[in-house]
Amino acid sequence: MSSTNPNLQIWENPANYSSPQYLKHMVLDFVQMHDFMQEPIVCDRGEGIYVWDVQGKKYLDGISGVWVTSLGFGNQRVIEAIRAQLERMCFSSPILTINTRAVEYVEMLGQYTPEGLTTIKLLSGGSEATETAIKLVRQYYAQTGKPNKKTIISRYNNFHGVTLGALTATGIASRKIPFEPLAGGFRHIAPPYCLRCPFNLKYPACNVLCARMLEKVIQYEGPETVAAFMAEPIQLSTGNIVPPPEYWPIIRETCDRYDVKVIVDEVATGAGRCGKMWAMDVFNTKPDVLCMGKGLAAGYVPLSGVAFSDEMADVFISEDPEKAFMDGHTYGGNPVAAAAGIAVLQELVERNLVEQCRLRGEYLMQRLEDLRELGVIGEIRGKGLMIGIELVKDAQTLEPFKKGINFGTRVGRNSLLKQNMIIRYAPNWIAVAPPFIVSEQEIDEMVLRLGQSIFDELSVLKN
Ligand SMILES: Cc1ncc(COP(=O)(O)O)c(C=O)c1O
Repeated sequence: MSSTNPNLQIWENPANYSSPQYLKHMVLDFVQMHDFMQEPIVCDRGEGIYVWDVQGKKYLDGISGVWVTSLGFGNQRVIEAIRAQLERMCFSSPILTINTRAVEYVEMLGQYTPEGLTTIKLLSGGSEATETAIKLVRQYYAQTGKPNKKTIISRYNNFHGVTLGALTATGIASRKIPFEPLAGGFRHIAPPYCLRCPFNLKYPACNVLCARMLEKVIQYEGPETVAAFMAEPIQLSTGNIVPPPEYWPIIRETCDRYDVKVIVDEVATGAGRCGKMWAMDVFNTKPDVLCMGKGLAAGYVPLSGVAFSDEMADVFISEDPEKAFMDGHTYGGNPVAAAAGIAVLQELVERNLVEQCRLRGEYLMQRLEDLRELGVIGEIRGKGLMIGIELVKDAQTLEPFKKGINFGTRVGRNSLLKQNMIIRYAPNWIAVAPPFIVSEQEIDEMVLRLGQSIFDELSVLKN
């Protein structure tokens, strides 16, 4: 391998990339660098659903990066679209101009967003999208004669990103505590989690209390103060938790009753990942504001966005400059990102990849059932190619592993380091979400490697 920079001879030796001397200048997301530096993985190239590290070791990417690379690596149509746009124009001012690709992309994407959500603010990252959605509903109500409607009700255990507003809406304490005090005007309710119901109830006898309690909270807060309910359709960061079918329709109906907007965070679930273009299509419920990210440009460039109705958008169009939507980001509506987004959408539609994702997801779910014989599978849950597996000490009683065993983390690390397969993991769960182009044969291979990791780690526990 030759260095692209003749002054940096250190890069001639692949081992140098993994040296703590250089890695200590890097900062991974949410990860203790001390631990990472013990066994670092330095990626160098990708092809299809595979990634090679700098030492030439080949990994199966079982989680699409982080629910992102839905088309796999090396998609020539997307690469060509980006190249052509770079030749034409790499950037246009997001404050003084708009550009041809962005206009085309918004019109095209608007044909696939939930019905009526055809105004789209283009952005770069998921946190920008969720943060923008919060601001959108607050300014909307400020300009429609309901200036007290500010409160955002979201859910414990949901993740909405790391900028301060998005982080405040997030319901995961460990992500938030270091940054207190957070933003004002946020409340949380308990999430749906039937396997370990926060109310110790059983579905369906529970009458979906987790959804119905939203009404009580709106009443306690005062409906005239509540602007939006915000949640992930399928709760990703705490193990891919799928709500019961009644959940979203109840939420929708409640919000309609109190003039509260429904913001869905489809940053991870959207752009086909759940086997429909949006996870909310799975639940037959229409949101008011849709946050998109991750898969929109399938990892080729940063791209995200917020879609909302023309009726909401009209509130910001006026002769009064102060009434413009007071939000913006330098890379929002970037023409290269829009060109990539167009090519990704064309691939999804023309190759019928969303339906392929649904079918491969069904196949993966079936194959994962084989792992139940290992005795530690508590639940396999998900939609499309977005699947979580809760690992338990006893599959019969669903008794969890003792705190500190961190079986999910062990399995995830084993999969990564011994089985050469990248998956997402946490102490009690693992998640898989391969690219939509994954073949049935590759799914068989994934399940085999996963089974081996679980088996190995069970053997370690027993000894
Ligand atoms: C549901 C959800 N919302 C928001 C975000 C934040 O997106 P980003 O990391 O692009 O800011 C994520 C990221 O994982 C996410 O999963």
